[in-house]
Amino acid sequence: MERTLIIAKPDAVQRGLVGQIITRLEQKGLKLIGLKMSSLDETMLRTHYAEHIEKSFYSGLEQFMKSSPVVLMAFEGLECVDAVRLIVGATNPRQAVPGSIRGDFAMDTGRNIVHASDSKQSGEAEVSNFFDSKELFDYDKSEYVHVYDDMSP
Ligand code: RTP
Ligand code: MG
Repeated sequence: MERTLIIAKPDAVQRGLVGQIITRLEQKGLKLIGLKMSSLDETMLRTHYAEHIEKSFYSGLEQFMKSSPVVLMAFEGLECVDAVRLIVGATNPRQAVPGSIRGDFAMDTGRNIVHASDSKQSGEAEVSNFFDSKELFDYDKSEYVHVYDDMSP
């Protein structure tokens, strides 16, 4: 099982899309293991977006991510990092396929609604960075027998 961090960004919160984002991930069969609202500060954002700090868009990205609270989610599932990236869609929402979150709800790279971890390693690291261990929940999901062929809950 992999873990992935989803952030409903400030535009998702402002536009009232948080519920639809959670719904799309839940209905896929992913297991929600952590959920909270939070304001992200400069330190957290510089860690989270370390690979982008030197890029021209970073300053605008940081301002945007601090502009209102976000909703943080941790999901768990079989090879879920890549599966969730497909559900989220391309970084530029105008190129994101219809049916994806960005394809359905967004128009601009700088307002693309949602963050999703991009590798198994970043999924583990990002979930740990944003959630204390006591905020992550290990429980049996009774529907797993109906979601996975050869996996017990
Ligand atoms: P994310 O990290 O938010 O899930 O998005 P991503 O992997 O699809 O895209 P990434 O390349 O990691 O970029 C992170 C976020 O930075 C903003 N961005 N702006 N103006 C630009 O050229 C530009 N490029 C990236 C977007 O908010 C993007 O999601
Ligand atoms: Mg990224």
